[in-house]
Amino acid sequence: MLRVTGLNTYYGTGHILQGVDLEIEKGQIAAVLGRNGVGKTTTVRSIMGLVPPRSGEVWLGDTNMAGWAPYRVARAGVAYVPEGRMIFPDLTVIDNLRVAERRPAKIWPMERLLELFPALADRRTHKGSQLSGGEQQMLAVARALITDPTVMLFDEPSQGLAPLVVRELVGVIHRLRDEGVTVLLVEQNLKLAEAVGDIVYVMVKGRMMYRAPIAQFQLEREAVKSKYLAL
Ligand SMILES: Nc1ncnc2c1ncn2[C@@H]1O[C@H](COP(=O)(O)OP(=O)(O)OP(=O)(O)O)[C@@H](O)[C@H]1O
Ligand SMILES: [Mg+2]
Repeated sequence: MLRVTGLNTYYGTGHILQGVDLEIEKGQIAAVLGRNGVGKTTTVRSIMGLVPPRSGEVWLGDTNMAGWAPYRVARAGVAYVPEGRMIFPDLTVIDNLRVAERRPAKIWPMERLLELFPALADRRTHKGSQLSGGEQQMLAVARALITDPTVMLFDEPSQGLAPLVVRELVGVIHRLRDEGVTVLLVEQNLKLAEAVGDIVYVMVKGRMMYRAPIAQFQLEREAVKSKYLAL
């Protein structure tokens, strides 16, 4: 479904992604772990077209999207839940969703999203700035869904959230998988990654250094942690 091969991305002269390879089958959830600054956000931004990769391919089905502008990537069916949520603070919940709905949603229309996220339904006329961190995160997810994506990219959605809200997020991500949405989840929260991931990647200095199905990762977890994730 989503296949990234040999992705190289630069910020100025900084060679950030050094040949990233990644593959997720339809309806699968891939969790990408990695220490601060290894290039996780750059990977999702490169897939989304927000930073154009200098070389490499980003396949969505049979289409290579590398080098496409973000709006084209979005139209092709990829949605992005950015680090820090990026909610419009002065717009209401409903208007935050409306600005993202470029064409009438068929799979995830507004009513369905408000059903899926009752807290947002309760707060529909509240401004973005009046929402809790958890509500903002759910709004960011709803805003991505209203574009009817086939692939969702999550960048550290659990950041700053209480454990109860993280559990809610696990439920939402499972629901997406049940609906056949393919998910790429960048996370530092190992528990969340393990709770939802079908496959686990570990990124080190601009490359994927480890890839395993979740069952194998669980057997190797401590070794992987000390080898790639320890400070
Ligand atoms: N806009 C930018 N301009 C220049 N360098 C950048 C920019 N954004 C990120 N970098 C650098 O690129 C490298 C990778 O950053 P990136 O944000 O992809 O890491 P990350 O794995 O998402 O880290 P974190 O866990 O802190 O979110 C870092 O060295 C960072 O300093
Ligand atoms: Mg990041």
